[in-house]
Amino acid sequence: MAATGRSNSGRHTCFMCILFMMSAAAIVMSALVLNRMLNDDDETPRSTLSPDTVAGQKVDSSTPRVPGPVPEFRTEAVVDCDPPNQRDPSRVDQEQCGQRQCKWIQHSHERAPMCVLTKSVGYSLPGNVQAGPRSLSEARIVRKGPTKIYDRPVYKEVDVSVDEYGDNALRIFFRPVNSSAFEIPDEALKINRPSPATNKKYKVEFVREPTFGIKVTRKSSNTVIFDSSLPGLTFSDQFLQISTRLPTDNVYGFGEHNHRRYRHDMNWKTWGMFSRDFAPSDEPWNLYSVHPVYMNLETDGRANMVFLKNSNAMEVTLQPSPYPAITYRTIGGVLDFYVFLGENPNHALQQYIQASISTGADRNNAIGRPPMPPYWSLGFHICRWGYGDLPEMKKVHERNILAEIPFDTQWGDIDYMYKKFDFTYDKTTFAGLPQFVEQVHNRGKKFVVIVDSGIGANKTLYAEARSNSPGYSMYDDAVQSNVLVKNATGDILIGKVWPGQSVFPDFTNVDKITDFWARWINFFVKNESIPADGLWIDMDEPASFIPGSENGCQRNDWNNPPFIPKIKDGEKDGGSLYYKTLCMDAQQKWGRHYDVHSMYGHSESMVTYRALTKLYPNKRPFIVTRSSFAGTSQYASTWLGDNDGQWSHMHDSIVGMLEYQMFGFPMVGADICGFFGADQREMCLRWYQLATFYPFARSHNGIYSPHNSSFVPDQDPAFWDPDFVRIVRNHLLLRYKFLPYMYTCFKEAHVDGKMVLRSLMFEFPTDPNTWAIDQQFMFGSSILVSPVLEENKKTVDAYIPKGRWYTYNGDNEVNSLNGQNYTLDAPLHVLNFHAKGGSIIPMQDPGNSTHYSRMNPMGLWCALDESNSASGSLFMDDGESIDSIARKNYLELRFTLQKGRQLDINVMHGRYIPPGNLSLTSVEISGLSVFPTSVYIDGIKMDASHIRLKRKILQFVDISLAVNKNHTITWNPF
Ligand code: NOJ
Repeated sequence: MAATGRSNSGRHTCFMCILFMMSAAAIVMSALVLNRMLNDDDETPRSTLSPDTVAGQKVDSSTPRVPGPVPEFRTEAVVDCDPPNQRDPSRVDQEQCGQRQCKWIQHSHERAPMCVLTKSVGYSLPGNVQAGPRSLSEARIVRKGPTKIYDRPVYKEVDVSVDEYGDNALRIFFRPVNSSAFEIPDEALKINRPSPATNKKYKVEFVREPTFGIKVTRKSSNTVIFDSSLPGLTFSDQFLQISTRLPTDNVYGFGEHNHRRYRHDMNWKTWGMFSRDFAPSDEPWNLYSVHPVYMNLETDGRANMVFLKNSNAMEVTLQPSPYPAITYRTIGGVLDFYVFLGENPNHALQQYIQASISTGADRNNAIGRPPMPPYWSLGFHICRWGYGDLPEMKKVHERNILAEIPFDTQWGDIDYMYKKFDFTYDKTTFAGLPQFVEQVHNRGKKFVVIVDSGIGANKTLYAEARSNSPGYSMYDDAVQSNVLVKNATGDILIGKVWPGQSVFPDFTNVDKITDFWARWINFFVKNESIPADGLWIDMDEPASFIPGSENGCQRNDWNNPPFIPKIKDGEKDGGSLYYKTLCMDAQQKWGRHYDVHSMYGHSESMVTYRALTKLYPNKRPFIVTRSSFAGTSQYASTWLGDNDGQWSHMHDSIVGMLEYQMFGFPMVGADICGFFGADQREMCLRWYQLATFYPFARSHNGIYSPHNSSFVPDQDPAFWDPDFVRIVRNHLLLRYKFLPYMYTCFKEAHVDGKMVLRSLMFEFPTDPNTWAIDQQFMFGSSILVSPVLEENKKTVDAYIPKGRWYTYNGDNEVNSLNGQNYTLDAPLHVLNFHAKGGSIIPMQDPGNSTHYSRMNPMGLWCALDESNSASGSLFMDDGESIDSIARKNYLELRFTLQKGRQLDINVMHGRYIPPGNLSLTSVEISGLSVFPTSVYIDGIKMDASHIRLKRKILQFVDISLAVNKNHTITWNPF
């Protein structure tokens, strides 16, 4: 199947000559067992850890290792009595374990703990459970077991309450009595309680024995989806621990890491969560963002999601079947769990994104819905770090135009800034940038710029920046406005980022700093004359190149907490958290940096969104952030950071994007061809193919390769040879062709919380073959993408779920009777993707940017299911106003094809009138076995010249149906 751009009007084909009597499954494919995708044990380790370090944890090298399957040593989920602590990495031996009154279990498992807690450690529930003023039920629990942990007191009493959040969600909240524990402020993330449940899908029990816990059971299946009655519940100021049993070991989510697989390896892996400027590599570390949420798929295809609303540095340890469980260890805050029940994965995610969807209420009952992206942001983006000057940026820009590469956006990385000072541009190296941006705009394209968190504070450079950009006084303004992060003694904290000495805006000072931030965005637009179309907010973990601050950090419990979870660089300085970032005792409006660190990117995204909507009240902001927290997706999109130009990272990008969908971000992508170097032609070509269906498709690379410090060569499409250019152009044309479908998917994400990219598990949850698949994915519910992810491959092994599926050019129908593995041809110019039978996919003739493609003729691709039916929809609006949906200024069409003989196009909502005479000029139908003798459009017989058969697709071509009117096309089989 060639993935070439197909015009809506096909060539003449004598449809009467080709009677579609042959079997639909004429495709040449052979079945293949996809062990690689489906077998958990098959993961080839790519880590470079030393032999006595497993997943970054020290293991006792004297422990005998038994090859082959490890015998089960548990009769129940266990909890480590002595979790690896980066502050103090020594582990207890058998004798010390006994002294701690823990239990020693000798076993040969590499990663599992040997010294485990007994049921006598935790809390007990001596009194009654009552309905409280705020809650469904609440109780006070009392400590049993040691009264100290890491030499600090453990809270004796803790209040626990359970609140219902509608039929499908509940909150389990623990708060120690008389503690001043940090709670995420409402301004950061407010989860409202919806109106009372009417048909609760769960029941809750307070378990007293063997140790206190909360148990949540799904009523319909009697599945226990959450059960914390395991040993080790602990509340102290800087160490909180809880373990929960899971119904199955199908666990997805937690972030951000490079998990390298979508379904978790439950084999005693520990994942830290704390925002860190650390590039995704093969190492198992925490990356830029924090999302303490997972999805669990139950055996019957139902799913639940559990979110721990806590922003402190934390880790989770997973343990496998037959006693699957999670242990959380966080070093501050409270334990505030939200449990969401879904009838399937999509439904569970809808709850997490906004629990009140079914009621249509517009309040946040969960993390909030993503905004509509501007239409142009779905186009292709060209970016790199290292243009160096404007002539180079122009050269790249122009060569892609000349090569007829469709693209929408030119990006400017830190090169454009004057010595890396935010909201300036270099009047020497980038002289003429305003004129260039004007030219970009005149061509119907957009310009997006990077902005960093660190504001330049070096006196000499600042003076230079001020003479480069008259009127520039960002540092002085920040000081006067009192909006900077302070150190523990109340002075402005000085770190080091791109402009050298830097200070950090306190974005948690939301109201005050929004004005400041808006002022400088405005300065950039008005004084520097760069009307950028979007802001790329980078280094917002926040990143600093020196530990803590210019003056280091004081040694104290915030900078050097007694327990340090599995956090990158957590072992440095005898155990610390401030490497590559600020001192943890720094002060921000929402609280101590220790508590709010991982919400820095979240607060910056929120403030950037507010500032942009303040300046341009009617325009959809386009913001891309590197660091995010739960809820950031209400304000910004994201990308997967500084990946490597290697094949495995292409696969990792699918895993990462699927995970981000679960974190609420429909608009996500990875740097196409890799950030760190991509001189591998074949890999880069395959990566561009894959990006045809990235929600956010941006080619971007770094300046120097960390592998050999050399300048990373360009990798924009037109940089390559003519064959490469042709193949990439065809794929990008294809992307542009499908944009109406993609945009409609984004509208579903915005309105219904249904995500754009979906794993096969999401769409086929009752088919266990799909549960671990992460080398294929779906765009929406209609397009299945099966990319090549390995070198020298001319075929791709793909699982095709049960049903009828169609390749794009129509000569192949796959009728997968029960779900089956296939080997698909995939020569270098081909990306395999299939339309699911039952779908109607709206398309539009591609243009060289969305400005033009939006005016082109439209078409429908109808893919029939087993009953020869299909349906779909189209959403259109002006693509840029912020409230087109709220103001009902949009067009929505519903397409229904019934029994292989009638297509109805109904205008469900028609307030938006697309410019020009936008019309549907073609309809293509895959899957008919009998072809019509006569066709009627709105009751009028169609001339035979409009009816064609292209391979096995029936086409009605060169028709003209106004998109804002109802239409019916009928045909009679002969
Ligand atoms: C780090 C970002 O992750 C990368 O994409 C960018 O190119 C560099 N910063 C330079 O701004």
